[in-house]
Amino acid sequence: MSRNSVISRRAFLHKAGGALVFPYVVSSSVLGKAGTTAPSSRITMGSIGVGGMGTNNMRAFLNQGDVQVVAVCDVVKASNEYGHWYKNGWQGPWFGREPARKIVEDYYAKKTPSGQYKGCDAYIDFRKLLARDDIDAVCITTPDHWHAVMVVMAAAAGKDIYCEKPLSLTVAEGRAMAEAVRRFGIVFQTGTQRRSSQEFRFVCELVRNGRIGRLKKVITTVGPNNKEAPPKDWQPEPVPDWLDYDMWLGPAPWVPYHTSRCLYTFRFGIDYSGGQTTNLGAHWIDVAQWANGTDITGPIEVEDMGGEFPKDGLFTTVTKVNFRALYANGMELTCKTQEDDVLRFEGTEGWIQFQQNKFTYYPQSLKTSVIGPNEIHLYISNDHHRNFIDCVKTRKETAAPVEVGHRSTSVCHLGNIAMTLKRKLRWDPDVERFIGSDEANRMLSRSMRSPWHL
Ligand SMILES: NC(=O)c1ccc[n+]([C@@H]2O[C@H](COP(=O)([O-])OP(=O)(O)OC[C@H]3O[C@@H](n4cnc5c(N)ncnc54)[C@H](O)[C@@H]3O)[C@@H](O)[C@H]2O)c1
Repeated sequence: MSRNSVISRRAFLHKAGGALVFPYVVSSSVLGKAGTTAPSSRITMGSIGVGGMGTNNMRAFLNQGDVQVVAVCDVVKASNEYGHWYKNGWQGPWFGREPARKIVEDYYAKKTPSGQYKGCDAYIDFRKLLARDDIDAVCITTPDHWHAVMVVMAAAAGKDIYCEKPLSLTVAEGRAMAEAVRRFGIVFQTGTQRRSSQEFRFVCELVRNGRIGRLKKVITTVGPNNKEAPPKDWQPEPVPDWLDYDMWLGPAPWVPYHTSRCLYTFRFGIDYSGGQTTNLGAHWIDVAQWANGTDITGPIEVEDMGGEFPKDGLFTTVTKVNFRALYANGMELTCKTQEDDVLRFEGTEGWIQFQQNKFTYYPQSLKTSVIGPNEIHLYISNDHHRNFIDCVKTRKETAAPVEVGHRSTSVCHLGNIAMTLKRKLRWDPDVERFIGSDEANRMLSRSMRSPWHL
């Protein structure tokens, strides 16, 4: 890729003051010969957050022949404490910016005749990575409480973005992200990879085309918390020297350090995550929204059905998920805690169920049903990371654009709010506000610790 073309694109973005409409921003990358590994067609990327999933994402992008990973960023230098909860000692890999840098440099070294490669920078502060003019796209795989700030800043810096689910910590954050992506003409992929599964797409097409009659109900379940909470009388621990704890907390309130607060287990802290409702719900509810044709809207009612939260301790997210949501077309979605993940579509004339990694159909003939040329066909993508890179080049919409990711994550947030207030709430998906409940509306946003803001 020509560095000049990258700079001119950034300069253009700045000059335009951000008032850009999606199709008019052309990435420097499309100026090259798409589909080859010539430098002119290469997409340069930075990976922000290289823990468990971030390292997976980074490897997936490394494996794209037309991507060059040039930078990684993590507030962890190197640690294998991501597995501290395993009783018999953690034998797993090390994660963090230095292990990630080594993965990248070893990968490219194998491809050079000299067998040597040094060309991946490792940052603690993501703002330094975003400030680089030679980076086209970023992959954000930090804990959820960082997603919104990073996405909004990356969009303003003109980077295309692959960001993990659940998109946000609040509905207001998700809306701000969608707004920034639109305003700066950014290509965006949400990390809900079932949108790139042929099987899930087929099932959604069956439902959308009425093969099970009118869709009456979608049952989703989420697994229970998979890590044990520390004792109620947990004590603060010294911050390890391999961690920049202040930058880990970022926009979240300042609290004393404990190992179980951070790596992986952030999922069970309400300041960093919506618990299993958003962590796992963001996947299943996303498919439910897809099948129901409500990807860019939401339910009209949400009701607590007996959700439970811990009374004290370090883990503060929901321990028993149980809520229902009603859509304008009459479809009822339920989400509750259960050992194994289930996704079940019930129609007036049949059902389809996903459990233990396989689909069961009633009637069985649905399995071989063919979607005709004049029926509804959904967006085709069979590889989520590849789809993102292709769209960075073509500037087309991805399989899981920001509005879609925001809307499915919002349903999870609504469920958490209803379970917290132990009530039934009416929701207006057009203006994204509860009807008649100031108390619930106040829970649609949260303040951020200075200097972080949207
Ligand atoms: N799509 C999927 O199937 C899938 C699977 C697992 C996780 N995820 C998502 O990925 C995200 C991360 O989850 P995880 O399990 O990898 O957690 P993790 O704790 O293993 O990794 C998060 C990493 O982000 C780093 N980080 C925190 N603050 C940072 C900052 N300011 N700058 C740079 N790095 C920072 C942490 O140090 C850590 O290394 C979550 O949003 C999660 O929901 C998605």
